[in-house]
This record gives sequence, structure tokens and C-alpha cells, in this order.
Amino acid sequence: MRDHFEIRDHDAAGRIGRLEVPRADVTVETPALLPVVNPNVLTIEPSRLEAEFGAEMLITNSYIIRSTDRVRDRVVDEGLHDFLGFDGAIMTDSGSFQLAEYGDIDVTTEEIIEFQRTIGSDVATPVDVPTPPDAGRERAERELATTQRALADAEAAETGEMLVNAPVQGSTYADLREAAGQHAAGTDLDVFPVGAMVPLLNSYRYADTVEAVRAAKRGLGPGVPVHLFGAGHPLMLSLAVAAGCDLFDSAAYALMARDGRYLTVSGTEHLEELDYFPCSCPVCAEYTPADLRGLGEGDGEDGPTAERLLAEHNLHVTFEELRRVKEAIRSGTLLELVDRRARGHPAMLDGYRALLDHADELERTDPGSKDAFFYTSHEAARRPEIERHRDRLARLTTPDSLLLTESKPPSSHHYDAVWRVKPPFGPYPPALSETYPLTAEVPERTDDAAQVAAAEGVVALASANPETAITLGHDAWCERALDRLPDRVETEDLRTLG
Ligand code: GUN
Ligand code: ZN
Repeated sequence: MRDHFEIRDHDAAGRIGRLEVPRADVTVETPALLPVVNPNVLTIEPSRLEAEFGAEMLITNSYIIRSTDRVRDRVVDEGLHDFLGFDGAIMTDSGSFQLAEYGDIDVTTEEIIEFQRTIGSDVATPVDVPTPPDAGRERAERELATTQRALADAEAAETGEMLVNAPVQGSTYADLREAAGQHAAGTDLDVFPVGAMVPLLNSYRYADTVEAVRAAKRGLGPGVPVHLFGAGHPLMLSLAVAAGCDLFDSAAYALMARDGRYLTVSGTEHLEELDYFPCSCPVCAEYTPADLRGLGEGDGEDGPTAERLLAEHNLHVTFEELRRVKEAIRSGTLLELVDRRARGHPAMLDGYRALLDHADELERTDPGSKDAFFYTSHEAARRPEIERHRDRLARLTTPDSLLLTESKPPSSHHYDAVWRVKPPFGPYPPALSETYPLTAEVPERTDDAAQVAAAEGVVALASANPETAITLGHDAWCERALDRLPDRVETEDLRTLG
């Protein structure tokens, strides 16, 4: 593997990075959204994608170009960049998606890589086999072996400065995805798309999406650029980035527009059902839903069609969300953003919960210090920072007698030391009170999940210090939290004490 990717900032498993694309002589900032450009139907001209939307990279399909005579001749003649009118980086797909849809294509990896090089692609793709979710185990293994031969063929091909994708397949088998990731990272290919995700994404199966991504990432390791093939709905970008994806491609903006669908960060609305646009992009600022409905499906000669305008709005919200995600990574608030998005759609809540199942993996790349931790949902009690604090507690030593208290320490007492307790973190020594994450903003009315998490912190501290006599002053903690505590921890309900 050649080294074209540099990671600048981290938050959870998300990162801001730079992908060097030598053939285009550009460096693309990640997370990046690659609008899908259909070479036959330019819904929005690629030059506008660059100038008005800030797209640094796009993706088009070399198989479609190759099988459409008129387009092929022009693209071979002019080169892909001139044909599309785009100076940024261009990734090309190989026809694998058509293979998955129609069962057969008439091109080998060797031929399509050569074709992609000929037309001037900057990032090429071999003919991987996108095994759908829930396929039989044997089929998933057999097709993965075929994909791995395609990667070997791509390695053997003459590629010059062109980067090459190494898709990771394995259907919904986490062990196959992980093995596929490890194999792909061992090739000398450059970019690592997690493949065959479209059926999961289309049916909002975001928990399964997170599981597939995390499994692939365990095999790939943290240092390589990862593309989530076919993902580009603004609803799930923050989640996919937090799980460790760097590149996205969206056909959704154009496909959805064709059906009159309007994307938002909390789902998909139908133009027919909207009275107001909850957005201030240039389209939504200029038109009302009724205006757009009035435009109908004209040929665009007398101005833009409703489809075009919807596609533009869809792309605006998607790029807007991408910028929000990047800013969240920079300030260390990515999980707060995922949490907010998880309130917008139940499928996203499932995805967020699946992500938190891997808090230990996220913890490895999560920075030690960020903007203040906001506790705004009980899911946040499972964030990686909580576990990290608990691990730290297990390494702290305590004096012979210790009072842990949720309220202000008493002015006179007989303990050797007094530490504060803050759900969901649990106890902490005074020296840590001004450090992340204990500077957290938490609600005054705590919840059971935060109390249980805090109790686990007390357990960690008590187990590490079996000789210490510990008293816990808590603010009416629930039974579930109190039941976690070892018997030797004395408890006092501060509320009954008054
Ligand atoms: N586009 C969406 N999913 C896939 C995939 O699994 N492989 C390829 N090559 N392209 C895709
Ligand atoms: Zn808009």
C-alpha cells in the first residue's frame, strides 16, 4: 500500500484527513462527498458541482461509459476531465454494481482497469462482487474469493499514478468483512470501499451498516482511507463518519429528486406533502414547495425543472451536513451530533446504539480532550469517554477512608479524603475536576443510565482499592445503580439526609 492518506484530527473513529490524488494533482480533504455523475444525464453540470457546491471529487461509471458508443468515443478522445468539465479528482466505478443488478457483465478487471487508465480516471475500481446482505455463507465466501482475485488482477495491472480501490465485501458476516479488510489492506491498492451497502442503506438498516463498517475497519486498521460505497444521505453521514468512513458517494441527491423527494438531516420528505421548506439553500430561499410543484417536468429550456432544483437542494443539504460533521470533528463534538441525528429517526438511533456497542474500539482513536462533553441522552452513558474514565479510576490509589459525594463536600468530616461524584462518570479526585471529560455539562435531573454508569465507576475504584473504606453520598439513585455497588461501600441518600 502506498501512503496517500494523512489523518489530521480525530473524534471517536471519525477523522479529518487528506487524500493525495497524484494523477489529478490535487489533495482532497476528507470526509469527502463524491457526487455521482451519470455520464449520460448531467443533472447538475460537474463544473457547478465544483464551483457552487464545493465538490473536490466526483465519481462516475467507467462501465457505462465503455458500453455507450457515443459517450465512449468522446471520452476516449477528450479524456474524462474535459468530457465532464471537472478539474478535481475523478473516481470511476467498474460495473460491479451492474454485475450485482443484472448478474453478468462483459468485462474483466484487467480490461476495465486498462480502460479507466485510458480515459484518465484518477481512482479506478476492479470488478469486485457485491454480495448482498443476508446472502448464504457459502455464496459470501465464494464471491469474496472472486473479489480477492479481482484485487490481485488490479495489483498486477499497469496503473501509473492512478490510485486503485480495493473493495471490501463479505455480506453481513462480520468475520468475513474483517478478513476481507485485512486482506485488502495487505495489497498495494490505495482506497478501501466497504461494498454492497446500498441494500442496507436503502432500507435504513443503519445498525447493520455500522456492524459491517466496524468489522471492515477492524481488518483494515485505522490508518487507511475508507469509502462507504453508495452512502450519501445527509441523515446518516455523521454516524458513518463516527464509525470511521472517509469517503461517500451520493446518487441519492439525483435519484430522489427524480421521484420528487426532498432530503433533510432527519429523513426524506415528499415535495407533494410539504407546505414549507425547512432550509435556506439558494433553492429553498427562492422557491416555495408550491412553486416547485408548479414547475412540473418541463424540458428545462425555459429555466430549471423541479427535478433539477430538488437535486440542487438535496446536494446543498448533504454538503452542509458534511461541513457540520467536519466542524464537529474539529471541536470534538461528533458524538453529540450523532446523538442529535439519532433523535431524528429511529433507524439512526439503532445505528448510534450499534456504534456505542463498539465504544472500546472508538476509544482508541478518541482524543483525550475536546470541547465540553454534553450529556443529553441516556445513550451518552455508553460513550467511550465514560469507559476511559472508569479505566483511569481502576488505576487510582485512595487513602484509608474516602467519601464520594454527589453534593458539595461537607466542611468538616472524619474522612481522609472527599471526592466528588458526577453521573455518568462516577467519582473523581479533585485534581481531575477541571479536565476533560469531567468538565461535562450534565442535566440537573440525572437519569438511571447515568447513575448506573456512575455506579460502575465506584465499582472500578473500589475493586482497585480493596483496603479503602468507601462511603457514597448519592442523590436518590435508582435501585439498579445501587445494586451494582459492592456491599462494603456504605451509602447515604443525600435527599433523605436533607
Ligand atoms: N457501488 C455501490 N456498491 C458497490 C460495490 O460493492 N462495489 C462497486 N464496485 N461499486 C459499488
Ligand atoms: Zn434547500
